[in-house]
Amino acid sequence: MAVERTLSIIKPDATRRNLTGAINARFEGSGLRIVAQRRMWLTDTQAGKFYEVHKERPFYKDLVKFMTSGPVVVQVLEGENAVLKNREVMGATNPANAAEGTIRKDFAESIEANSVHGSDSAENAANEIAFFFSGCEIVG
Ligand code: CMP
Repeated sequence: MAVERTLSIIKPDATRRNLTGAINARFEGSGLRIVAQRRMWLTDTQAGKFYEVHKERPFYKDLVKFMTSGPVVVQVLEGENAVLKNREVMGATNPANAAEGTIRKDFAESIEANSVHGSDSAENAANEIAFFFSGCEIVG
């Protein structure tokens, strides 16, 4: 198995409820390492660009509004099969479909306010990591 990196975002619904530490404990408990982390408040431009792939989707405008409604924590997670591992730890996008014990099952408020984002492929992970972090900010 290969050591990979994936981009994670702890979303405004979770930072508002002071869940950063609880969510980070889930990542670390699963064997993922947080090798970069920054708390920031996304601008409209940043959130719009990050979610550009969803531009034509009906939820895009609301999603950008939600992602700029409070601070987020952007992170790089590292570990064996990190992309897939993080998706397992997060659970399904819609918390109603998320498995027991996943972050979204336990913490998400709705399909939009679903507490965390994680890259969905190694290729997207590389692009998403580069969107937020320079190489020297990632300390493995
Ligand atoms: P995320 O994994 O960050 O990727 C896109 C985000 O759009 C998703 O999590 C949700 O926060 C949000 N979203 C809102 N409505 C939907 C929907 N109907 N289907 C998928 N994602 C949605």
